[in-house]
Amino acid sequence: MKTLLFIFVTLLATCHGDVLNHVHEHGSNFKIFPLRMKTGSGGHYIPEVSCASWRLGVEAHNIIDWKTVPIECENYVGNYVLGDQYRADSKFVNREGFYYARTVNVADDGKDIWVFDIDETTLSNLPYYAKHGFGVNPYNDTLFNEWVDLGAAPALPETQKFYNKLLNLGIKIVFLTGRPLKQRDITAKNLKKVGYHTWEKLILKDTTLYHGKTAVTYKSSERKKLEEEGYRIIGNIGDQWSDILGTNTGSRTFKLPDPLYYIA
Ligand SMILES: *[C@@H]1O[C@H](CO)[C@@H](O)[C@H](O)[C@H]1NC(C)=O
Ligand SMILES: [Mg+2]
Repeated sequence: MKTLLFIFVTLLATCHGDVLNHVHEHGSNFKIFPLRMKTGSGGHYIPEVSCASWRLGVEAHNIIDWKTVPIECENYVGNYVLGDQYRADSKFVNREGFYYARTVNVADDGKDIWVFDIDETTLSNLPYYAKHGFGVNPYNDTLFNEWVDLGAAPALPETQKFYNKLLNLGIKIVFLTGRPLKQRDITAKNLKKVGYHTWEKLILKDTTLYHGKTAVTYKSSERKKLEEEGYRIIGNIGDQWSDILGTNTGSRTFKLPDPLYYIA
C-alpha cells in the first residue's frame, strides 16, 4: 500500500512538473521567462514577478495615470503593504531623509522647513484599504471621506520617527495635503493623536481656488507661497510623484512607496 502511494505521489509530482514546463514553453504570459535562469525551479512565480515589475514601474514613475491596481496583483500589493517590505522601504526613505537633513545648516530665523504630505506619508489609510480592497476598486469619495472623518488613521511609524528627528534638528514642519479645508479639524486631531504634536503650518486644499487643478499645480502653487513668505524648503517628502514634481519642490525630495493609488 505504501509503495503504491509512493508511486502515485511520484507520478503526480512528475506530471505537475511537466505541466509547468509546458506552460513555461508555450504560455503567452511568460515573456519574462527567457530572462530567468533556465535551471532550477524558479519559474513558478511568473505572476508575482510581473507584479513586482509593475510595482517597480509605479515607483519609478514609468507607469503613470493608472486608475487601479491590476486585479491579479491585489494579493501581491496586500502582502506588500501589510508585510515587512513596506515598513523596510519606508524606513529606508526616511533614513535617507535624515542623513540629508543632518547635513543642513539650520538657520536660527525659524524659516527652514520640511514639507510633509499627509495620506500614505504621515498618516496611513491601510485600515480603509484592508476593508475595501488593496487598490483594486476605483476610488470612492464618499467611503474614503467617511473613513477620514473618523480621525482614526494610524501614523506611518518610520515617518513619525523622522518627524521627531527633524524637530530635534530645529527644522519646522509644514503639512501640505490634498485633503479639503473642511477636513482641517479632524486632520489636526488625528495628527496629534498619533504623535505629530506640532507644526508650522497645516495647508489643506481650497477646493474652490483649485477646482479642476491637478495636485502638481495645487502643491507647486502652495510651495511657491511658502517661499514667497521667506521659508526655505530644505526637504519635501510624499508618497505620490505629484508631491515632489512641479515647481518650488525643495532642495531635496523623497518618495515613499505607494502601490495603492495614483494622484496626478
Ligand atoms: C460609493 O460608495 C457608496 C456607498 O457604498 C455607494 O452608494 C456609491 O454608489 C459609491 N460611489 C461610486 C462612484 O461607486
Ligand atoms: Mg499622499
